[in-house]
Amino acid sequence: MILHYKIQLRFLIILATILVALSYASDANSDDVTIVNKVDYVRPLEIPFPDDNLFSLRKAELGKKLFFDPRLSINNNISCATCHDQKQSWEDGKETSIGNLNTKLTRHTPTVLNMAWGELYFWDGRAETLEEQAIEPIKKSC
Ligand code: HEC
Repeated sequence: MILHYKIQLRFLIILATILVALSYASDANSDDVTIVNKVDYVRPLEIPFPDDNLFSLRKAELGKKLFFDPRLSINNNISCATCHDQKQSWEDGKETSIGNLNTKLTRHTPTVLNMAWGELYFWDGRAETLEEQAIEPIKKSC
């Protein structure tokens, strides 16, 4: 009985040692990858803009106003910022978003951080540019 107990204990110790070793190995591996990525990463010096929609201060100010303006929605009750909320890292923290008639929509609200570097927009990639993307919520009046 004691021998059986000792064998079980030894087995558990070996198992625990293997698991701890594996977890350290995978940590070390992910740290290595992170270090390599950090070494290779170069912070972009400029925000990219398409040739047919270059940056201007007036456009940026107008865009900011519109982003927070509920008049863009059909009932004048929600703005882009209702779902893309700065306090929630520019998303809404909900599983799926809530539309302007208080309807539960079918998709999660993604963050709008770093969108200038995106290649396709929306979860299904149906918009190829931000210009194409931005008109969609207004057309849907969500
Ligand atoms: C009712 C909530 C809601 C409102 C209001 C809203 N959005 Fe969104 N937004 C979403 C959801 C949900 C998605 C993802 C939809 C999809 O993939 O079909 C999304 C997607 C996006 C994306 C694409 C992000 C990505 O990673 O592809 C951008 C950019 C965006 N919205 C900007 C805006 C702007 C600008 C406005 C205002 C004109 C706006 N949104 C209004 C919920 C909202």
